Amino acid sequence: MQKFRKIGVLTSGGDAPGMSTCVKAVVNRAVEMGIEVVGVVGGYAGLIKGELIPLDHQWASNVVSHGGTVLYSSRCPEFKTEEGMQAAVDTCRKNGIDALVCIGGDGTFRGATDMTRRGFPSIGLPGTIDNDITATDYTIGLDTAINTTVEMIDKLRDTCESHERLNVVEVMGRDCGQIALYAAIASGAVAVAVPEVQFDEAAAIEKIKTLRAAGKRSMIVVVSEGMFNSDGSPYAETLAKRIAEQTGIDTKFARFAHIVRGGSPMARDRATACEMGVKAVELLVEGKSDLVMCEIDGKITPVDINFALIADRMYKNKLKPGDLDAFTPEQLEDMKALCQKRVDEIRNLYKVAQNVAF
Ligand code: ADP
Ligand code: F6P
Repeated sequence: MQKFRKIGVLTSGGDAPGMSTCVKAVVNRAVEMGIEVVGVVGGYAGLIKGELIPLDHQWASNVVSHGGTVLYSSRCPEFKTEEGMQAAVDTCRKNGIDALVCIGGDGTFRGATDMTRRGFPSIGLPGTIDNDITATDYTIGLDTAINTTVEMIDKLRDTCESHERLNVVEVMGRDCGQIALYAAIASGAVAVAVPEVQFDEAAAIEKIKTLRAAGKRSMIVVVSEGMFNSDGSPYAETLAKRIAEQTGIDTKFARFAHIVRGGSPMARDRATACEMGVKAVELLVEGKSDLVMCEIDGKITPVDINFALIADRMYKNKLKPGDLDAFTPEQLEDMKALCQKRVDEIRNLYKVAQNVAF
């Protein structure tokens, strides 16, 4: 058992519903175990500037349902520099912080592993709406983002039905099409376009024509923000124009953007946040670090942070020379299996979306 006096917790990168719940879970479990907790305000920027607030049961009592992140977040390029990192280390030393829980995406995990290497054991928790961390089946925020997207599409469908219109909707998710796919399935979209699967625009437009000819009044097409035209401009708007031109259907376009990132977390995100937050504190106390909490086949499982980061690069085709050198052949096989699992999952979701798109 590791004797920690004080743990720091921070949220970093894009905010996600459920991050606040994560913080609450970390605070409650740590305080229960006799450990002090400080919140780092505004992610790694707060660590550099030494912006800390003491957190206790009282503070945590009311944040379970907060949207965004109660600790605030930032993207902080300075943290990647030696000076930035040194300032963060100084903050930890000066304030007696023994360990860190860092909630965010892969960038945040890189920061966490850097802090572990500098003597401050750290564990990462996956908080991002995108569900784009290869090692985990689920990231905190996804379910809420999907539900918000579906709720908004349902509203658009009402007005589309009244006016016999089609609405193309662009949704966030960076290079990962999961929000788009789940939302398309759950909202009965007639087509969905995501970066991971070749999109057959001509076939989609033919289908729209056929459905209209058969009397379908309202239609929704979901496009992931990760779809681009060859000149780098967003594809969703272009698709809306082409549908209008080629079908004659009154077509509208909506970019949901950051609205999908807000709102009170759904129960799924709160539950996962609590489970992961509690487990992270317990693992730190057991003397474990440099881990990211993952959900694998329904079970909360700690995964080596470097394994998770490199598996992510493998899946995203971003491997750098030497990236794989430190891993055993078995670990490399596991990484490949993770990547394949994700490919299969996306393909399966795409198939379901196609099968229900009428
Ligand atoms: P996310 O965590 O959602 O992926 P970012 O990629 O913006 O979001 O990363 C969040 C923060 O993590 C960055 O602003 C930076 O402070 C820190 N970070 C990102 N990449 C690294 C890195 N390679 N080394 C150390 N810290 C990093
Ligand atoms: O990673 C979460 C996310 O919302 C992505 O879906 C999106 O591409 C990106 O962050 C937007 O980042 P920002 O908040 O910096 O505009």
